[in-house]
Amino acid sequence: MDILGIDLGTTNTVATVYKDNNLEFVSFDNSDLLPSVVNISDNGVLVGQKAKNIAVVSPEDTVISIKRKMGSGEKITLNSKDYLPEEISSLIIKKIKEEATKQFSSEFSKCVITVPAYFNELQREATAKAAKLANLEPIRILNEPTAAALSYGANKDDDAIYAIYDLGGGTFDVSIIENSQGMIEVLSTMGDNNLGGDDFDEALADLIWKKSEFKIEKTQKIKIKLQQLAEKVKIELSSRDEVELDEKFFAKQDNKALHLEVSISKEEFEELISASIDKTVNLLIDAIDDAKIDIDELNAIILTGGSSRIPLIGEKILEQSEILPVLIDDPDKAVAVGAILQGAMIEGKDTDSFLIDITPYSLGTDVLKDDMFGLEFSKIIMKNTPIPTTKTNRYYSAISYQRNYEISIYQGEDINLSKNVKIGMVDLSIENPPEDGKIDVTFSLDIDGILNVKGIEVNTGEIIEGQFKSKISHTTRHSQKKVEIEMISDHDKIIITKVEALLKNDSILDEDKEDLRELKKKFLSANEEKKEEIEEEIIDSIFFLEDN
Ligand SMILES: Nc1ncnc2c1ncn2[C@@H]1O[C@H](COP(=O)(O)OP(=O)(O)OP(=O)(O)O)[C@@H](O)[C@H]1O
Ligand SMILES: [Mg+2]
Repeated sequence: MDILGIDLGTTNTVATVYKDNNLEFVSFDNSDLLPSVVNISDNGVLVGQKAKNIAVVSPEDTVISIKRKMGSGEKITLNSKDYLPEEISSLIIKKIKEEATKQFSSEFSKCVITVPAYFNELQREATAKAAKLANLEPIRILNEPTAAALSYGANKDDDAIYAIYDLGGGTFDVSIIENSQGMIEVLSTMGDNNLGGDDFDEALADLIWKKSEFKIEKTQKIKIKLQQLAEKVKIELSSRDEVELDEKFFAKQDNKALHLEVSISKEEFEELISASIDKTVNLLIDAIDDAKIDIDELNAIILTGGSSRIPLIGEKILEQSEILPVLIDDPDKAVAVGAILQGAMIEGKDTDSFLIDITPYSLGTDVLKDDMFGLEFSKIIMKNTPIPTTKTNRYYSAISYQRNYEISIYQGEDINLSKNVKIGMVDLSIENPPEDGKIDVTFSLDIDGILNVKGIEVNTGEIIEGQFKSKISHTTRHSQKKVEIEMISDHDKIIITKVEALLKNDSILDEDKEDLRELKKKFLSANEEKKEEIEEEIIDSIFFLEDN
């Protein structure tokens, strides 16, 4: 079969193939893990372990943890040439393709590639782009926890609910998934794009440096050496109580060699990472809440990702949840296994399971605040909606004969716009604007998490379709200047009009108005379910205030 399953990790990349009904790993220098490290110099491109080794002597030509920059549009300069993060990642994928072609004597043209559930649209698109640049068609962008669940066989079991806790090198994800008659549904997902084993290495590297008492400048070279050393110590501390370092010629001072002799205990290490682990456990609990289930409804908590081998994690989870978590076999390879299983299913090799993914973020646009000063967030697609999905909201013009509508697209949960990520914008300009303009804005989110936006002026039928700019713009927004449109959905408008009338009513106390404003805000940012609740509250206060 010509499909590759790819877990493009922050630290390690793992690739799988499906051959004669067998699952196999692509191997790199005798390992199933390809370090996600790229080195570009006059001598050409190096990817993987060789690049990792050379990083110590030529840090300026080496890129590590490129995954953290995916979708940022940030340029990386190597050997005086600029590269985008997706271009760097595509070099990793090209390497996989080359090795797989050699090892399996087949041509590979498609892949299933995984991303953290918390990746936003830009990051997903950049990941798809990376595959395409390596001449692989990404037939599915799969959430990593979902892939891990597949590898655990969650789709094969009797109906059950699992938590998938995935702590890798750079990211943390936790998802609650439900298997119902072979259909896996993601009930909720939480995570932190910037928490993983790399951070533990960094903290440990600092501690080693402090304990070394060297009084020399910490150069880039030393930093990388320390980081690599710290990773080794960290891994040993997963199965030992103490590690003694004895590195001869670690650095130089006035042409004299400095030996690094430091010992680190498991306790010291655990103290360094304790707060981070607590954070992951809290996110696990949040995800359970978000899925609207009780902890005891979970059939298992499954640990995946290389960092979940740290014993403290299992201990803390047990303490908090009273469930002893299961460390998945080969936790650093489970996601790639799930990726190829999904690929096989898509190709019709295995049809007894079907996947439903969800969007981990709400997606929406900006609307004028009720005081007319500034903008706030109006959600169109709610967090945790199964994808693919299409939702339409109607919005009204702020001025008569409005000619231009700017539809900005945000993802996030906060009513305060600046706390959400802007992922794009489309402009709709109307040739013959009617007096009372209205536009229907349709968001379609496909199975790979790619968002398509369509705006249609209801009276004139003029249409604009969204093509996102591939970068987040870092320019400051001048909201006052560009606001031309008040966007409130049709249904909400009735409630909001009532609220606004009361807010303008002089006989109502300021504190009551304050409460009402608060309710209005909550109402506008609530999901469908909460909305009803808040609507009831608003109607109660309307009755109360009108009575008085
Ligand atoms: N025995 C171990 N004890 C502690 N940490 C470990 C152990 N083995 C591997 N790790 C850590 O696991 C991390 C790599 O995990 P993994 O390969 O799952 O991450 P990744 O998929 O590259 O990252 P991400 O999922 O964040 O994109 C590294 O930080 C590595 O040091
Ligand atoms: Mg991973």
